[in-house]
Order: sequence, then structure tokens, then C-alpha cells
Amino acid sequence: MSEAKSGWGKILPVTIIVTAVVTIGISALLVNIVERKEEGKHTFFRVVEVTDDTDDPAVWGKNFPLQYDAYKRTVDMERTRYGGSEAMPHLPSQADPRSIVTQSKIDQDPRLKTMWAGYAFGVDFREERGHAYMLVDQRNTRRVTEFKQPGTCLNCHASTYVAMKKLGGGDLFAGFEKINMMTYSEATKNVKHPVSCIDCHEPQTMQLRVTRPGFLEGIRNLKASQGVANYDVNTMASAQEMRSYVCGQCHVEYYFKGDQEAAHLPLAQGPQGGRHHRLLRRGAAQGLGPPRHRRPRPQSPAPRVRNVEPGRPCPLRRRLRRLPHALQARGRAKDQ
Ligand code: HEC
Ligand code: HEC
Ligand code: HEC
Repeated sequence: MSEAKSGWGKILPVTIIVTAVVTIGISALLVNIVERKEEGKHTFFRVVEVTDDTDDPAVWGKNFPLQYDAYKRTVDMERTRYGGSEAMPHLPSQADPRSIVTQSKIDQDPRLKTMWAGYAFGVDFREERGHAYMLVDQRNTRRVTEFKQPGTCLNCHASTYVAMKKLGGGDLFAGFEKINMMTYSEATKNVKHPVSCIDCHEPQTMQLRVTRPGFLEGIRNLKASQGVANYDVNTMASAQEMRSYVCGQCHVEYYFKGDQEAAHLPLAQGPQGGRHHRLLRRGAAQGLGPPRHRRPRPQSPAPRVRNVEPGRPCPLRRRLRRLPHALQARGRAKDQ
């Protein structure tokens, strides 16, 4: 009996101490979680107030200097392994103030001029380049200066969100229709900046959002055709989808239909994958953001498979056969 008592005498203080330590630990963890959650709500120092009418990226840049810096880097003109633009000197004139442009695709392949004779692209069609140039390139392409183009062109070449809201008296869709009905020269007076923070981010939470009515409507129709009614991309898409959709609101196939010059996105015919993804990869190479895991590594030689002789048993052969560089190596082996 007395032995059992002395046993309890040892266990009790240890239990009390352990319980106290665990309790303190759990409380500290809870406090920490609450604090972090609170911090999560204010992930940045708001140096200036940014509202749903601030389309100047420099103002947003005061709150987010790093992202603004990355945004400004779209002026870089450097060919990457995914292609891209090269700077060509251009003599600025009154009519066209650009001092650098990109290579002309129709000069590189003059057959295009013949193929597209009578079509605006037969007069001027260049390599695309970074976002910083989207507005100035559109204003000065001969496809605009020498042809009558609709305001619709602006939809993907400027920060149009605030302009559309203003023109529509607060109604984005009404403003979109108004811009579409204007001539290009009229419409372009309403905008000042290339695509800006506000076109992809909600200013209070910085959440991604799609702002282009053409995309909002196109994807709603697509989802409706799949049996999902009233799809609202900004509340119903996943974070991962939004990372693509903010780009897809402009990097998408389109055509203009008849006199009501809205940009039609043939989304209902299925996503136009190839070109979009090529551009995303190139964007990642330029530090434009997603998809981050696709940052290109410096050019490295293809994995060494040259020693694989055709006909020699090799457990990897079936897989290697599907790799283009493996095929090349096999071809070379045959030639030698
Ligand atoms: C408001 C419409 C719009 C949005 C939104 C948009 N882009 Fe673009 N993007 C353009 C236009 C227009 C050009 C061509 C500009 C030019 O050639 O002057 C372009 C060019 C590019 C280029 C070509 C750069 C080069 O050097 O060839 C890449 C890459 C690119 N965009 C990636 C993206 C990515 C990634 C996103 C989403 C994070 C995105 N874009 C969102 C309109 C847009
Ligand atoms: C649905 C979005 C969208 C609309 C509408 C749009 N563009 Fe673009 N534009 C792009 C994108 C994306 C690029 C860059 C990628 C590419 O070339 O495919 C681009 C590239 C360009 C370029 C640079 C390369 C070149 O072709 O010389 C010019 C200039 C241009 N567009 C003019 C126009 C004109 C003029 C219109 C109206 C007729 C127009 N864009 C309408 C999205 C659009
Ligand atoms: C063409 C669309 C687009 C434009 C324009 C744009 N962003 Fe973003 N931004 C994105 C995407 C996509 C992400 C990644 C979001 C994610 O990971 O979910 C992002 C992420 C961010 C983040 C979160 C932190 C990070 O780096 O991932 C901040 C802050 C940010 N952007 C600020 C800005 C600012 C400031 C501007 C204007 C100077 C701007 N963005 C312009 C699409 C855009």
C-alpha cells in the first residue's frame, strides 16, 4: 500500500507538469494561429489607397514595388527559347513615334504579302512583344493607321476596365458595348495605359479577377452548354483556373461579327489550347507569373541516349522510343 502511494507521489507531479506544458503549448499555438490569420488579412503595407477606379499601375506600384518592377520588365525585348521579340531600330516620326519595333513577319516571308493582299495583315504584321508595348503597337500598326478599325480592338490592348465602367455609367457590359460601337480613333482616347493591375486584381483583396465582358460571357455560355447555369468565373473558378483565365481573357481566339462589333470568343467550341499555352510558357520565361514551375532551365543538352543501340535489349527502350531526341540519337546511330 505504502509503495503504491509513493508511486502516485512521483507520477502526480509529473502528470501536472506535463499537463501544464501541453496546455501552455496548445494555447500558444492557438494564439499564434489567430495572429497569423489576422496577418493573412493584411499581407502588405498599404502606402497609398487604391480603389476600383485606379488604373495607373504606378500608384499600385507604391504598395507592391516588387510586382511593379516585374510588370515594368515587360519592356525587355529578348528572344527566349520559346521565341519572342527582337528589338529593331525604327526612326521615330510624327506619324509613328516608336524608336524600336519588332521584326516584320511579312518582310521575313514575303509570300505572306501575296497571300494576304487586300487584307490588313498583308500591309503590316509583326512579331508580338511585351505588355508594355500593347497600346503603342496597336495605335501605330498600319493595320490601324491605314484601315478603319473598331473600338473593339482596344479590349485586349489597354487597361479598359475603368474606361468601360465610366462609359457605361457603372455598368461594365454597357461600357463594353459603347466602346465596341466607336471607331478606333474615338475609343483609344478613353484609355491611357497598357493592361494594368486593375484588369487582373480586385484592389482591396488583390484576388485575381477577370474583367473582360467577352470572356465573362463566353465562359458562361460554354458552361451553360455543359449544363452549369449562371456560371460566374470570378466566384466559381478555382485559384488554379484563375491563373490561366486572367491571361485567357485576351490570349484567346476571336473574331468580329457584322455591324455589332463585339469581340466573339469561340470558347463554346472548346478551349484553344496550343497557342495560349505557348504564350503562357513564354510569359513565365519573362517573369510574368504563372505557371511558375515552368521556368525554363538554361539550355542543357538532351539526356544522353546515344549509347542506346537499336536492337539491343534495354528496359527503357519503349519509353525512349517515344522521345524525339532518342529518335534522333537512334537515327544518328544508324547513319554512322
Ligand atoms: C489585356 C489583354 C491581355 C492580358 C490580360 C494578357 N495579355 Fe499577354 N499580351 C497581350 C497583347 C496585346 C500582347 C502583344 C503586345 C504587342 O505586341 O505590342 C501580349 C503579349 C504577350 C506575350 C508576348 C511577349 C513577347 O515578347 O513576345 C506573352 C508571353 C504574354 N503576353 C503572356 C501573358 C500572360 C502570361 C498573361 C497572364 C498573366 C497575359 N499575357 C495577359 C494582351 C494581354
Ligand atoms: C481578344 C483579344 C484581342 C483583340 C480583340 C485584338 N487583339 Fe491584337 N493582339 C492580341 C494578342 C493576345 C496579341 C499578341 C499575341 C499574338 O500576336 O497572337 C496581339 C497582338 C497584336 C499586335 C502586335 C503584333 C502584330 O500583329 O503586328 C497588333 C499590332 C495588334 N494585336 C493589333 C490589333 C488590332 C488592330 C485589333 C483590332 C482589329 C486587335 N489587335 C484586336 C489580342 C487581341
Ligand atoms: C495579366 C494579369 C495580371 C496583371 C496585369 C497583374 N497581375 Fe498580379 N498577379 C497575376 C497572377 C496570375 C498572379 C498569381 C496569383 C496566384 O498565384 O494565385 C498575380 C500575383 C500578384 C500578387 C501576389 C504575390 C505574388 O507575387 O504572387 C501581387 C501582390 C500582385 N500580383 C500585384 C500586381 C501589381 C501591383 C500589378 C500591377 C503593377 C499586377 N499584379 C498586375 C496577374 C496579373
